[in-house]
Amino acid sequence: MSDKKQQVSRRQFLNYTLTGVGGFMAAGLLVSPLRMAIDPVLKDSASGELVNVGISVDDITDVPTRIDWTVEQVDGWYKSEPSRSAWVYKDGNGDIVALSPICTHLGCVVSWEGSDAHPDHFYCPCHDGLYTKDGVNVPGTPPLAPLPTFEQEIRDGMLFLGNTIDREGA
Ligand code: FES
Repeated sequence: MSDKKQQVSRRQFLNYTLTGVGGFMAAGLLVSPLRMAIDPVLKDSASGELVNVGISVDDITDVPTRIDWTVEQVDGWYKSEPSRSAWVYKDGNGDIVALSPICTHLGCVVSWEGSDAHPDHFYCPCHDGLYTKDGVNVPGTPPLAPLPTFEQEIRDGMLFLGNTIDREGA
């Protein structure tokens, strides 16, 4: 009687062991393809990283200059290389100012001295928006907020820019 109990117990032990080992192996086989399927969704997009925009600090003057660059962006399984732009110059202290060229009124593109009537200003042609050199919106014109600045860093003498930073209105 006790012998039979022991045989059943061994069989159960073997069943549990084989089931456990089999389940462990099956899980191991499933994890890899599952991770490959989900991984791109879990990864952060590269849009927040600072990017070398291809201009050396020595080449930046006190006159706003437009620079363009591309960033590598990954959204899930979709990769793209959207372009970015900034107006860049050195202020009176020699600090680098990097401004978004996107008008804060309705999103047109502003230009430095884009209007003969408004020298020393950023001008938006869509609705005559005006900003001073530091990107602050001129009261009485349509934009209600300054041009955003960019996160920035200097590495090995080159300018790196990241995300834009919104500012309070004038
Ligand atoms: S979009 Fe620039 S002033 Fe309206």
